Amino acid sequence: MTARHVLVLAAGKGTRMRSSRPKVLHRLAGCPLVEHVLRAADPLAAASTTLVVGHQAEAVERELAVSRGALGFVRQERQLGTAHAVLQAEPMLAGQRGTLIVLTGDAPLVSPGTAQALAETHERTGAAATVLTATLERPYGYGRIVRRGGRLAEVVEEADATPAQRALREVNSGIYAFDLAPLFAALRAVPEAGPKRERYLPGILRRYREQGLDVETVVAAADEIRGINSRHELAEAGALMRHRKNEEMMAAGVTIVDPATAYVDVDVDVGPDTVIHPGVILEGRTSIGARCELHAGVRIVNSVVGDDVTVNNHSVIIDAEVASAARVGPFAHIRPGSTVGAEAKVGNFVELKKATLGAGAKAGHLSYVGDAAVGAGANIGAGTITCNFDGAVKHRTTIGEDVFVGSGTQLVAPVTVERGAYVAAGSCITDDVPADALALARARQVNKPERAAALRNKIADSE
Ligand code: UD1
Ligand code: CA
Repeated sequence: MTARHVLVLAAGKGTRMRSSRPKVLHRLAGCPLVEHVLRAADPLAAASTTLVVGHQAEAVERELAVSRGALGFVRQERQLGTAHAVLQAEPMLAGQRGTLIVLTGDAPLVSPGTAQALAETHERTGAAATVLTATLERPYGYGRIVRRGGRLAEVVEEADATPAQRALREVNSGIYAFDLAPLFAALRAVPEAGPKRERYLPGILRRYREQGLDVETVVAAADEIRGINSRHELAEAGALMRHRKNEEMMAAGVTIVDPATAYVDVDVDVGPDTVIHPGVILEGRTSIGARCELHAGVRIVNSVVGDDVTVNNHSVIIDAEVASAARVGPFAHIRPGSTVGAEAKVGNFVELKKATLGAGAKAGHLSYVGDAAVGAGANIGAGTITCNFDGAVKHRTTIGEDVFVGSGTQLVAPVTVERGAYVAAGSCITDDVPADALALARARQVNKPERAAALRNKIADSE
């Protein structure tokens, strides 16, 4: 088999994004644009994968070093055009033979199958270059494919095109397969063009054709080749990416009530018979089990949710775990480092932070449970607060199994309530409570007979 190498162009500034971030790091359905591109290239089984970086190179390298260990980088210090960008990889690829697949860091919708088809057609025909093209309704901004006798003759950029050429709807995707043998010599011969004296990669195609070398094309679906140059295009690509993800999930047995408002990142897993209601947002590396019900307005980020879980409206779950058959919300906030046990309940306006709720434990209403471990079967009454912060450091609260904490209790950490204990409503607990004890920590009530009526009369007189 022909050796394959992959090169991704990602040195440009992305001026039209009007951003302080490099364009290829802008996110689409949870991943940087360039990560989508790299994933499309994964099945090519390339001998090397290299990214050409330049504008904010360190930021791009840093981000990808985390997710992509085996990736190589070359620097293009000045962005003198796409042909110049490919030339920067010459030292890396010196002496190599075979196919170079060039992808563009800002075209994230290309599918692995299309990248594969490009490589295979290129290798089968033995062409010097193969261009991925597509026919667009609105070709504005793309290089147009000019054919003569049915064969590609050249690519003309928007700015250089005649009115007749602008009417052509077949465009250059910026994605190519090249035979490495003639490539770098030919790139060096591409003339500088335009006011910025750039060297354009498509220039090589015209040169090959003039030399009588074979240039093939592979036609892709229009949506796959979209380049992202502006926030508008980023949003459009985001909608397409979501559409794909939704179709994939529905095919796998997930119900999506309104796909137009389901925002599910590409790396999210959702089990069969789970129902996603309108306006649900599932981000990052989130996994949702089977038969869950995610109600409107729920946002779940980098979290693991078991089977048969109900998350009621407008709950937020971040970097947390929710075990099977638990019930969450409405309006619950489960913050990083929290674990909700099987069949546990986190109800209305309850906030958890670095808190573990054992199986079947309940915190039904209006509570803050932070830096705490709550045992299985415990009941946290309405309005209970773990006072975890003394102004300088955080302290832990430990609540044993089957503890009953009455409503309106403050637990001043560090404090432990041992298993089976009962804390009377309205208590302010500052000392540990032994197992099975009853803790009362509130002022004793005094009733003064008839005093309410007397008080009312006094107020009336003074008016
Ligand atoms: C390019 C193509 C155009 C094609 C379109 C598809 C050229 C001259 N034009 O235009 O025919 O229809 O893509 O989306 O190639 N880059 C570098 N170094 C540079 C310049 C660019 O690495 O010096 C990178 C950019 O980061 C980007 C990619 O190359 O990822 C394409 O550059 P961009 O400026 O977006 O080219 P387009 O104008 O979109
Ligand atoms: Ca572009």
